[in-house]
Amino acid sequence: MLVNAAEMLKKARAGQYAVGQFNINNLEWTKAVLLAAQELQSPVILGVSEGAGKYMGGFKTVAAMVRAMDEELKITVPVALHLDHGSYDGCVACIEAGFTSVMFDGSHYPIDENLAKTREVVALAHGKGVSVEAEVGSIGGEEDGVVGAGEIADANECRMLVETGIDFLAAGIGNIHGKYPDNWQGLDFDALESISKSTGGIPLVLHGGTGIPEEMIAKSISLGVSKINVNTECQLVFAAATRKYIEAGKDLEGKGFDPRKLLAPGVEAIKETVREKTRLFGGENKA
Ligand code: 13P
Repeated sequence: MLVNAAEMLKKARAGQYAVGQFNINNLEWTKAVLLAAQELQSPVILGVSEGAGKYMGGFKTVAAMVRAMDEELKITVPVALHLDHGSYDGCVACIEAGFTSVMFDGSHYPIDENLAKTREVVALAHGKGVSVEAEVGSIGGEEDGVVGAGEIADANECRMLVETGIDFLAAGIGNIHGKYPDNWQGLDFDALESISKSTGGIPLVLHGGTGIPEEMIAKSISLGVSKINVNTECQLVFAAATRKYIEAGKDLEGKGFDPRKLLAPGVEAIKETVREKTRLFGGENKA
């Protein structure tokens, strides 16, 4: 069931758990995430970066594929199709294409410009029942060409961004896209606590979900995080499972080269990661 992400995240915030956003790259990824969420009876968010949207043939292609698959696989859990780290133009295109949720990432703009552009996206999106995430501070590292220095968000700027009417907020708290370096300082829980206090109970989003230790996940959720984004981890397990299949020579046995066989271990690995993360975030049986 395709829905926007506002309601599921409000429920998660009230119920002290988080909904996983799993980024998708192709049909296999989409199917793996949807089936694992259905199996666990968990709401789920499919994240699409602008790069992944382009790779899949464009946002309309993605929206049509996800809608059709949701219907034909008889997925009954709430599913949001969400643009990840969108530009203004990307948000407009996704709203047009039938996404149910968008993230406008104006974190690289001066705060006044971020606020003004976020307000415009909110007006456009809410006019079509689409939910909106915005960002202040920044997520460290790089994801699909989006680079961030990892500034910790200012609680006052967070409050101003929430006042634009957004549905959930991504605030940098020392989180990083991709693998965490050995010298990572960890999440800044003092910052998260003051952001949580200054933003009146809006669901908060934790990007960079790959590699955050369990106890930090639990503490984040207790301080208002209701959506956790995972991308790199699914890519890593998919690549490792595919490597294992090929290194074992399975593609050379019989019809092991059939793409449906070749990609199957990777798909299973993604499903297992989605199950693990969903359980860790407390999303099981919350559909
Ligand atoms: P990771 O790639 O670190 O899991 O981060 C995902 C993310 O934050 C998507 O926006």
